[in-house]
Amino acid sequence: MSKQQQLDAIARQIVDDKVCPELAGQATQLVFGDGNPDAEVVFIGEAPGKNEDLQGKPFVGASGKFLSEMLETIGMQREDIYITNIVKYRPPDNRDPLPEEKKTFLPYLQSQLEVIAPKVVVTLGRHSTNCFLPDLQISKSHGEPKRVKLQLKESDDVLEVVILPLYHPAAALYNGGMRQTLIDDFAAIPLIIKKLQS
Ligand code: URA
Repeated sequence: MSKQQQLDAIARQIVDDKVCPELAGQATQLVFGDGNPDAEVVFIGEAPGKNEDLQGKPFVGASGKFLSEMLETIGMQREDIYITNIVKYRPPDNRDPLPEEKKTFLPYLQSQLEVIAPKVVVTLGRHSTNCFLPDLQISKSHGEPKRVKLQLKESDDVLEVVILPLYHPAAALYNGGMRQTLIDDFAAIPLIIKKLQS
């Protein structure tokens, strides 16, 4: 099976497992993930918003536009990365995802990472960051790469990734200072990839 076929199977599994039925019942559709299954970098957001829910793809609204602009500043495009969220149905009124919802979706996110096997995982905002680094405070440690070993589900092996915790683009969108911080932090991405290749 190709990586894309394996990812499609995980998406079907979420539906078959009836994950978070209350969220699913209010959402238009599952927003599983999008981009290059062979990417070296995976971005993880929080949960779909209104536009994502309607289009079935992550980060297609205002935050997504800003994300694409930031990618351009480091010479990358959406086709070069894979992007997803922890919670894969839109929470009503865009409320924060609940701890229980994040916990329920986490094994599926892990399976996604296991298939893609990226070198770098960029976590956008505290919700996705704290899934991997529970004690990290974004305000203190944004832009600081951390090596993490993820236990694989399908074997006893671990997947070694570098997690780069960043502010969520939505938080930085209309805040000049935070916006520049996020752009500056993005500059670390190609440097980390280069270092891992050497
Ligand atoms: N914010 C997120 O965290 N994810 C999206 O897909 C869109 C906005």
